[in-house]
Amino acid sequence: MTKLSPSVPRIAVYPGSFDPVHNGHVDIIERGCPIFDEVIVAVLNNTSKDPLFSIDERVEMLREVLAGHPRCRVQSFSGLLVDFMREIGARTIVRGLRAVSDFEAEFQMALMNRRLDPRVETVFLTPKEEYSYLSSRLTKEVFLLGGDLEGLVPEAVLERMRERVKRLK
Ligand code: PNS
Repeated sequence: MTKLSPSVPRIAVYPGSFDPVHNGHVDIIERGCPIFDEVIVAVLNNTSKDPLFSIDERVEMLREVLAGHPRCRVQSFSGLLVDFMREIGARTIVRGLRAVSDFEAEFQMALMNRRLDPRVETVFLTPKEEYSYLSSRLTKEVFLLGGDLEGLVPEAVLERMRERVKRLK
């Protein structure tokens, strides 16, 4: 196990698809900020999915939402997460655990990432209970069917979703 010297900045990566970012994500980022010197929100540029928002839009929305968090940066990445982490000198992955149902997939990812790079550790943070049922998939579904997302996604994101729906009509 490699020990970090106190002078080495503790850089954490919070990876995800963020299509779109919701308040559960923001809550996890805000919990991570005081623990690490820097939190890099890493947005996966996933060509195999059909996202509602493009990679540039997702990055832009996150930057807007996180503008008041000086320890937080937003970057996109493609390929293996551990390769991106190596490039930026990060050793810690932050993931949110909303419920026991998240555990199995998260556990598999944590072990695979550690297998790919033994220096990488995953830490799990739990969001506020009021966000424990929230997911990007559900927010998109509810919004596209006309449901109210007030208080569940940042206002800037809600605005973009409204614009996107107008264009889709
Ligand atoms: O928001 P999501 O979709 O749950 O995030 C999943 C993500 C982006 C963390 C995961 O798919 C990922 O890290 N993809 C990058 C490719 C990779 O490294 N795969 C092996 C992970 S074990």
